[in-house]
Amino acid sequence: MKNYQILIDGKWMETGKWIEVWDKYRQEPFAFIAGADADLVNKAVEAADRAWRENPLTPFQRYEIFLKGAQILKRREKEIGEIISREVGKTLKESLGEVARAIHNFIIASEESKRIVGEIVPLDAIQGNENRFCYTIRQPKGVIGCIAPFNFPLNLVAHKVCPAIAAGNAVVLKPASVTPLSSVIMCEVLEEAGLPAGYMNLVPGSGAEIGNAMLENKEIAFYSFTGSAEVGKQIAAKNGFRQCSLELGSNAGVIICADAPLEQAAEKCVRMAVSNAGQACISVQRVLVEDQIKEDFVARMLEKAHTLKVGDPFDPETDVGPMISEQEAIRIENWVREAEEQGALVRCGGKRIQGALFAPTIIDRITPEMKVWSEEVFAPVLCVDTFRSFEESLKKINHSKYGLQAGIFTTNIDKAMKAAKAIETGGVIINDIPSFRADNGPYGGVKESGIGREGIKYAIEEMTNLKVIVWNL
Ligand code: SIN
Repeated sequence: MKNYQILIDGKWMETGKWIEVWDKYRQEPFAFIAGADADLVNKAVEAADRAWRENPLTPFQRYEIFLKGAQILKRREKEIGEIISREVGKTLKESLGEVARAIHNFIIASEESKRIVGEIVPLDAIQGNENRFCYTIRQPKGVIGCIAPFNFPLNLVAHKVCPAIAAGNAVVLKPASVTPLSSVIMCEVLEEAGLPAGYMNLVPGSGAEIGNAMLENKEIAFYSFTGSAEVGKQIAAKNGFRQCSLELGSNAGVIICADAPLEQAAEKCVRMAVSNAGQACISVQRVLVEDQIKEDFVARMLEKAHTLKVGDPFDPETDVGPMISEQEAIRIENWVREAEEQGALVRCGGKRIQGALFAPTIIDRITPEMKVWSEEVFAPVLCVDTFRSFEESLKKINHSKYGLQAGIFTTNIDKAMKAAKAIETGGVIINDIPSFRADNGPYGGVKESGIGREGIKYAIEEMTNLKVIVWNL
């Protein structure tokens, strides 16, 4: 078993404390990583603060670091994919897809490093300001505290670290305690690419200890968090005047109109309900089908679901790997049982196969108060409800405490335009599932799905301060 060190102030170190990292399919430890503590968090923040103040990087240097980083990621692609599959449990195909997305994010960050611009503001548009010249600049906020989730341990870390450094900030990163190894790789890659000491600091450990120490450290200027709405609320409550970006949960919905290409829509709904074992904030969870095509559509989805192979992430035939833990698989099994007791009909799956493996599940006859509909399932489970009028479908999709992304399949342009405006989410995907995400586009939610936007360009805006410069001529 390999022991991984952590990086603080440019030094790789052990801490006297080791955290086990489990292989999520085999359900056994396969590595250890050094654990941080509150003291090390404070040291990491001091180092980060010194780095960006005393050794600022020019936009061209940042561009070069990310470009080289992209090449290093590509060179190590296979090794990284295998680590992701072991620490998360997702299939190797999915892990390699995640590495490819991270490479894109590095390239986007290299490009955006050179495009951080202000604007000239015509103050003389106001009478009396004729002799004023004004422009704005964007400056780094300083130390960015990144708290990452387990489900995309490389790419969602890239979504935090890349814009932070591209904008001239330094980073203190707490990976999810169950998937810290991809973050070690991220540090190694950036170090080899030429990022100076202190810019990237890694502090693995529990949310209670490390997360709290980060929140209490007033030198951290901005928090970038992805995780549950529950933890997001705690961060927002403690954050004070600091800004933050909170990418939280969702029970993403999709509307299937009778005029839609049903075969394609059914295939996509099933595929993106089970991708990553359903553990993505924009997994397909609520499928609203027009009443007259409901049985036809469910039959098509069942046909797809029955072809899915659940099992070893390293088997190229596998479509669905394990969930992050047996405990999580038991949690969703209980939610499905509860829904059944409340009158739902499980059309396929609905139970654990073994350990953390959960069968792809389609649930029918739901009511809006069932947990499998109203809460975030974060499991390979999709639920079906129907609508009789288009207005009813909009009402039902908006009936949620979350609002991250939604999808609609229709060939009717009026309905598509209406849905784009009326659905209360951070993104509406027309003729596709809500799970579509392009890494250079804005991504984030409304309501309890959070605040702020990711996507390198948009996150750079959030991780910089806008300053106005006025000249009295
Ligand atoms: C998420 O779970 O919010 C991230 C989904 C993605 O990046 O594809």
